Amino acid sequence: MLRIDTHVHPNLKLFSRYLTRRKTRKIWKAFADHNLDAVLIAEHAFKQPVQAFRALKRSRPVGMSTHLIPGVEALTKEGVDVIVFSRDEYIFQQKDILTPYKLSFEELLCRIEQDDRLYGVVTHPFVLSETGMIAHFDVDCIRKSIRRLQFVERHNMCVWYLRIVFERLGLSTCVPRLYESFCATEEIPQDIVGAGIVFGGSDAHHPWDIGSHLQIHVPHTFAYEEIFDALIKPLHHRSFLIDKPDRVLLLSLVTSFITTPLEIIKKEWRLFYTLDLSFLSRSRRMFQPLVIFLRCAFVVSVLWVVTIPVRALL
Ligand SMILES: [Fe+2]
Repeated sequence: MLRIDTHVHPNLKLFSRYLTRRKTRKIWKAFADHNLDAVLIAEHAFKQPVQAFRALKRSRPVGMSTHLIPGVEALTKEGVDVIVFSRDEYIFQQKDILTPYKLSFEELLCRIEQDDRLYGVVTHPFVLSETGMIAHFDVDCIRKSIRRLQFVERHNMCVWYLRIVFERLGLSTCVPRLYESFCATEEIPQDIVGAGIVFGGSDAHHPWDIGSHLQIHVPHTFAYEEIFDALIKPLHHRSFLIDKPDRVLLLSLVTSFITTPLEIIKKEWRLFYTLDLSFLSRSRRMFQPLVIFLRCAFVVSVLWVVTIPVRALL
């Protein structure tokens, strides 16, 4: 059997070599603890996906057998998330796909269909935010997109902790529609998946979120090419293992309530580095370097204030 997590965010603090090294060490440890054969690294397009993938790859500990599959969680003009990946780092040469808000959902689908080195996944379509297809399209369009791209993220754990909290507080019957959306994000109903090739990921942003993964029922192998082929071909039975111990519930809840709003602010205020700024209006394009400069100044000021006691002792 092969164990593959098809949706992981390294979520690195790339401005700090120390913080990056510390986090990548923990991520690799989590991969080893859960015996993952491969992980699709799908960092958000607005969080330097190329640098994040390479930083993680560079920090691979000696003897680790987990393979990294290069990918990105692309962001369409409408704000929809779509995972795009490739066998090698070819995806990292596709500047239009890597640029947030550059392509519309339809343009992105056509782009993937026309390039046989790219693979696209209908990603958490029922998540209740701008990033889910359901906020912009109907269920029929979701079905059609699965048929076109072939791959569908049937299992996604990004709202697992909310579902559990709702169940424990008895809220599932008070707000049934919200609860149903959590369930549909965690597992898309079979009638919508159809003949789509099933993917399943933790959507982890932190090491403690890593664990749940897709299982492909084939004889085990360590060879990357064979693992990748097993992932993209619909030849073998697939299941999804939920690995979420109770002790991570509070941790996941707290960190998600920090990470998610920060990501929304980053997107809304365009506080990210991009390869192509043409998606911004002319005036916003002029202000982009200033915004990035102010952001860096803010981080440095916070670090300066936080380290005052330490520096005083020295
Ligand atoms: Fe994600």
